[in-house]
Amino acid sequence: MRMLEDKIRAEGRALNADVLLVDSFLNHQIDVQLMKAIGEAFASHFMGKGITRIVTVESSGIAPAAMTALAMGLPLVVLKKQTSRIMNGDVVQTTVQSFTKGTRYELTLKRQFVCPDDRILLIDDFLASGEAAMGVHALLTSLNAQLAGIGIVIEKSFQPGRQRLETLGCDVYSLARVKRMDAGTIEFLDEA
Ligand code: G4P
Repeated sequence: MRMLEDKIRAEGRALNADVLLVDSFLNHQIDVQLMKAIGEAFASHFMGKGITRIVTVESSGIAPAAMTALAMGLPLVVLKKQTSRIMNGDVVQTTVQSFTKGTRYELTLKRQFVCPDDRILLIDDFLASGEAAMGVHALLTSLNAQLAGIGIVIEKSFQPGRQRLETLGCDVYSLARVKRMDAGTIEFLDEA
C-alpha cells in the first residue's frame, strides 16, 4: 500500500535491525485518515471471502481493525491481554509470549462473542514472530470457529511470523512488508 509505505519512510524510525518505531501514526498518536484508508484496503482484499467477524488484540490493533469492521459492515471483537475482575463469564485463554517486548500475557476471549461457525478475520498492527496470531488461532479453534484470514498493517518479513501463519492455511495479507532495515534505511519487499 503506497500511502502506508510513504508514511513509514517519512515517519518510521528503525531503532535497530529488528524494531521499527511508528508511534507517530500507529502505536501512540493515530493517523485516522491513514487508518481509514487501511480499513478500506483490507476490506477490498477480504470482501467476498465469507468473513463473518473481525477480531484484534488490544491495543494497537484496535484502530485498523475498527476501520476494517466499519468498511466491511461486520462486528469487531477485541481480545484482552488480561482478565479483569469485572470480566465475569465464560472465557477461553491462552498464554502468549512476546519476543519483541520480552513479556507474557493471557490472551482472553469471552465465549459469547464468537459463534461456532464464524469465519474470522484477524487484524493486527505488526507481524513479527506470529505468537499473537498463533494464540488467536488456538482460542478460535477451541470454540470451533475458523481463522479464515489475517490482515497485517506492517509485516517484518525477515522475521518468522509469515511462514508460521501460512502453515495454518489461512490468507495472510500485509499492507507493508519490510524486507530489511537499519538506522538509515527501510526497504520493502514489494508493494501490496
Ligand atoms: P508477534 O505477535 O508477531 O509474535 O510479535 P511479538 O510478540 O514479537 O510482538 C509483540 C508486541 O510487539 C506487539 O505489541 C507488537 O505489535 C509489537 N511489535 C513487534 N514488532 C514491533 C516493531 O518492530 N515495532 C513496534 N513498534 N512494535 C512491534 P503489543 O505488545 O501487543 O502492544 P500494543 O498492541 O499494546 O501496542
